[in-house]
Amino acid sequence: MKINKVVVIGSGTMGSGIAAHLCNANIPVTLLDLKTEISEKARDKIYNSRPPLLINKSKINNIKVGNIEDDFEVVKDADWVVEAVVERIDIKHNIYEKIFKIRKQGAIVSSNTSSIPIKVLSEKLSSEEKKDFCITHFFNPVRYMGLLEIVKNENNDLDKINSLKKFCEIELGKGAIVCNDTPGFLGNRVGVYAMQVAMTEAFKMKLSIEEADAVFGRPMGIPKTGVFGLYDLIGIDLMADVLKSFIKELSEKDKFQIVAKEIPLVSKLIKTGYTGRKGKGGFYRMKKDNNKKILEAINLETGEYSPTKKIDIGIETVDINILINRKDKYGEYAWSVISKIIKYASSLVPGITDKFNDIDEAMRLGFNWAMGPFEMLKYIGVKNFFERIDSFENNKFLEDLYKSKDENFYGERQLYTDIQTLGKIRPSAIKVDKNKSAEIHRFKDFNIVEFTTKACALDYDSMDALKNATDKPLIVINESMQFSAGVNLSYTMNFANKKDFKSIEKFIKYFQDTCKTLKYSKYPVVSAPSGLTLGGGFEVLVQSNFVASHTNIVIGLVETIVGLVPAGGGCKEMLWRWSQSGEAKENPDFAPLKVFDIIGYAKTATSPIEAEPLKYLRPEDKKIMNRNSLFTEAKNIIDQNNSFKPPDECKFNLSGKPLKEKMIKILEKLYNEKVILDHGMKVGIELANVLSGGDTTIEKTLTENDLYQLELESFMKLIESKQTQDRIKHTLLTGKPLIN
Ligand code: NAI
Repeated sequence: MKINKVVVIGSGTMGSGIAAHLCNANIPVTLLDLKTEISEKARDKIYNSRPPLLINKSKINNIKVGNIEDDFEVVKDADWVVEAVVERIDIKHNIYEKIFKIRKQGAIVSSNTSSIPIKVLSEKLSSEEKKDFCITHFFNPVRYMGLLEIVKNENNDLDKINSLKKFCEIELGKGAIVCNDTPGFLGNRVGVYAMQVAMTEAFKMKLSIEEADAVFGRPMGIPKTGVFGLYDLIGIDLMADVLKSFIKELSEKDKFQIVAKEIPLVSKLIKTGYTGRKGKGGFYRMKKDNNKKILEAINLETGEYSPTKKIDIGIETVDINILINRKDKYGEYAWSVISKIIKYASSLVPGITDKFNDIDEAMRLGFNWAMGPFEMLKYIGVKNFFERIDSFENNKFLEDLYKSKDENFYGERQLYTDIQTLGKIRPSAIKVDKNKSAEIHRFKDFNIVEFTTKACALDYDSMDALKNATDKPLIVINESMQFSAGVNLSYTMNFANKKDFKSIEKFIKYFQDTCKTLKYSKYPVVSAPSGLTLGGGFEVLVQSNFVASHTNIVIGLVETIVGLVPAGGGCKEMLWRWSQSGEAKENPDFAPLKVFDIIGYAKTATSPIEAEPLKYLRPEDKKIMNRNSLFTEAKNIIDQNNSFKPPDECKFNLSGKPLKEKMIKILEKLYNEKVILDHGMKVGIELANVLSGGDTTIEKTLTENDLYQLELESFMKLIESKQTQDRIKHTLLTGKPLIN
């Protein structure tokens, strides 16, 4: 079965996301909606979406749009028709009738429904039609969420379902899990239950919403929106509809019913328009006070709002064991929530699925959890878990595990795919070293470095791991959401607060030294990024020999935002890349001015396609839709480079003072136009100093070491200034830049 043309019907949140993602995969797609302005505006909505649904915005016109009255004939040519209209069975049935009348023989028809059983969706179809009908449940936002649940019915041609799965995996890059026809399938059944448990326990145990989100968040390996933040993001009203549907579909005995009961405060929020971020606010709200925005949190008992309190529970990395063993209310809450989630998830095996591994993967791909419930159980330890839980009635999985006491019950990750992933090979790799910021594994004849800090922020230990791992070919890769958000700013500020600038200088030098080792190591170094690849993270990547990049990245040098200049070789490498372009051969100032513009404005790209014109990535860097394939692609690069030779050292011809003056003129213009302010001017002058090659008046040939030195000097001048420190503190506190 070949899928060459797709029609998506319904151009709302999901339909436009699916169409955009098909466009990302270069599959011709037509998007249809009602004959209203909605269908006309579909392309604008996709073009302006945030985060961007398109990898390459210039391809927007590859998505054809139309309406179901005038353009329905396109269905005749489609190999796959995806229905993503409103969640109303009458409307869906009506659409299927029209589709099946004219679809090509054998073309697949699927629904994106999140809650209607396939039995009900397909009840009016003939058994011949049912063969080609299934549910393809994408998650929002489609480009970014890895999970795709494919729900089959008993009439399906299994070969066809398998080839659809392969297509979605390889072409669309999705983690495609085939599920049975049960309410909420796997992701939402467990994910929504988990949210409800986290919420109801917070009410019961009298935790504030900030406290609950601080526990049911990073320390558990759950995105930092936590539970109440996620509720606001999804929409409190939408969640209420989802719950109603679960209450209706699930049996009265299902434990889900206990946590799905209406909560008066939640109903009141919906009634008063507090439906979350899209409404007046939700559990959190932004209050304007004299032009200042203050984030407020609701009190679960009184319903009153007050400014949020930052909760520091003192656990930086994912560690559920430390969390559940705490002897305070956070420990109690964590245990209560985690044990209930494990009990519920395991009660679904084998009834809902016989593959417990699929439940974990659905949680990792669909909710961005670092571990699913079964992997949590593995970490807690089978013996410890059973010692602590009270009962596990009617739970065959737990009964069996209680008997077998098998601590190794878990096995491999990602069993739903044949791809050799990092998660699959990790258990068989040798753990060579581990420090508090990174791990080194040896697999076959190469090393793997995984950063393990929050957002994979870099410090001395991360550099140490990289450096120590260059005794073999090396892949820098990880499974967490970000490749690296850059140097750990709080690590740097700890020294700055003590006026210990010597230690900062030592760290930067070590950073530079490590990047140099990566670049000139006698074995190839491959970076395989996904997610944020910013600042220092980009500097690691740009000084690796090869790159295999996921198509979902945010990449760039953003140091100027916090009043710094890149000092790990970022300025140097960007200068080198731009100096290789045709224009640079004719005009020696072309490259430095280009890089001045890119780094000065802290430009970022949200995909490899956007990254290339900025030269953050090169045409030869691999661009990969399926995140699971990053490891295999990186490994292939190593295999293909048996006779690897490190690159030649770069030399730079920079014109010094006259060029610096040109750059300062640009800054002065921006200053007069109030685009930059006093400190921005200072940062700009330091950047000019690095990129012009310093104060010399004659054109000089500089080595890489000279440029590292210039970067270091400018960096140190800036980090010692109060304004830069204020910017960093502000960013650390609020996650947002301070403009001064
Ligand atoms: P939406 O309300 O954003 O969009 C629905 C679109 O369908 C609208 O543009 C509407 O004009 C169009 N439509 C209605 N009747 C139509 C007809 N007869 N012919 C053509 N178009 C018609 O809804 P959303 O959120 O995109 O949901 C679509 C489907 O995806 C639903 O089945 C929903 O359950 C499911 N879903 C939604 C998710 C979400 O996060 N929003 C996640 C996963 C699944």
